[in-house]
Amino acid sequence: MVDTYVGSIDQGTTGTRFMVFDHDGQVVSQAYEKHEQIYPEPGWVEHDPMEIWENTKLVINEALDKEGLDAEQLDALGVTNQRETTIVWDKETGKPVHNALVWQDRRTTDRVEEIQDESTDTLTVETIREKTGLECDAYFSATKTEWILDNADPIKLQRSRPQDVRERAEDGELLMGTIDTWVIYNLTGNHITDVSNASRTMLYNIEDLEWDDELLEEFRVPESMLPEVRPSSDDDTYGSTDADGFLGAEVPVAGALGDQQAALFGQTCFDAGDAKNTYGTGSFMLMNTGNEAVPSEHGLLTTIGFQRTGGDVQYALEGAIFITGAAIEWLEDMTLIEDAAESEELARSIDSTDGVYVVPAFTGLGAPHWDGRARGTIVGMTRGTRREHIVRATLESIAYQTKDVAEAMVEDADIDLSSLRVDGGAVKNNFLCQLQSNIIGTEIVRPVVDETTALGSAYAAGLAVGYWDTLDELRDNWQVDRRFPVDEDANIEVNYDRWKDAVERSEDWAQD
Ligand code: G3P
Repeated sequence: MVDTYVGSIDQGTTGTRFMVFDHDGQVVSQAYEKHEQIYPEPGWVEHDPMEIWENTKLVINEALDKEGLDAEQLDALGVTNQRETTIVWDKETGKPVHNALVWQDRRTTDRVEEIQDESTDTLTVETIREKTGLECDAYFSATKTEWILDNADPIKLQRSRPQDVRERAEDGELLMGTIDTWVIYNLTGNHITDVSNASRTMLYNIEDLEWDDELLEEFRVPESMLPEVRPSSDDDTYGSTDADGFLGAEVPVAGALGDQQAALFGQTCFDAGDAKNTYGTGSFMLMNTGNEAVPSEHGLLTTIGFQRTGGDVQYALEGAIFITGAAIEWLEDMTLIEDAAESEELARSIDSTDGVYVVPAFTGLGAPHWDGRARGTIVGMTRGTRREHIVRATLESIAYQTKDVAEAMVEDADIDLSSLRVDGGAVKNNFLCQLQSNIIGTEIVRPVVDETTALGSAYAAGLAVGYWDTLDELRDNWQVDRRFPVDEDANIEVNYDRWKDAVERSEDWAQD
């Protein structure tokens, strides 16, 4: 009998990965392709949706070819994605009307401030928080969709009728979606999102589980543009790939999760109180709160974790930190290090940063500060400051930012964090894991498969088609690679108060 697998498309901020998993949750093959980061103005970040779709096809075929696999051996496909990033496209041609506005994009900060201003006649931030669980911020899709409808250039639509983009949206000619929706649409022809991604748009009511009329009115988004919202693991499937298409096989697409929720699922955080932190471009700490949406009083987000067909929605509390892994990339761009591995070596070569703090607020600060105008800051430099200090302070900033959200989470959820499961590219760095453990005072646990984002969406898809039957099977697959208990002897000096002072200095810096 031919072996079968489940494939996962992980469409992230910096690139697209395709991974093939076997029944034990082990990686059988994978391929990865970066895409262009487009910065038209300071604070603006765009991606080309067509490049993303081309790369998706490329990595799928490359990963299959590498191990001589046939697409027919895929029992299902799962999708996971950078969340909030917004695309609007033409229903007839399938062509985007504008580049994707990436989650990091701050161009709609003015619009958010209009809502935050209590003297304006808009919905209040409290109403938005109650309905969506989110802090009113340019991070989410609502103001990004509004901006595209108001600003996309009709000429670029390449239509004979150079009509206003908003008018065309109102006439039902355009579709909107986050990246999951874009990928599912291109794979299956169906306009669908899952509950976890819908909960990041700031247009979806997480209690009523539907698009919210008042929010749609506030952000002037026609409902006809929005995708159908389905469970994250969907027994009915979202549709199948076309046998005559790029894959040459009809494979059901049966699972989708925003990447952070996918990592929660891949880390098998299925029960209330289970928590994980993923170190990607940013870091996102999520704690499953069961079927109760726990409101945050400390600047965290309340969000949808996942839903299986016929099951209740599982909620999560989330600490969204915008820049962590991207700060290591910034060190590379600044030629302070040659590659990520060198950051560990340099950080270990000194005992402390000698009072230097780096706050990498390059795209504002997310949880728990929510300051869209904060900007990157280095404080405490002296004539003796060397690159080692900056590098170590940058790694420390990753751990300190996680402490900011971990503290908020412990208070909101009223529990003690006994251990934290970690994943993502940066957890290969042992120094960072130990630093994290010492700074938050909690054991860090790193699993064998650290690509838990892709694994999570493979699990969601595989459960839907019966490749896996129970959550226990998935729990059995999860294995520890290494534990990092708090180590009092490690040469890690924790000065959290100084960190908080440094954060204050980065706040409210940008003028427009
Ligand atoms: O909310 C943004 C997040 O989903 C991006 O994740 O892994 O692409 O940095 P990542």
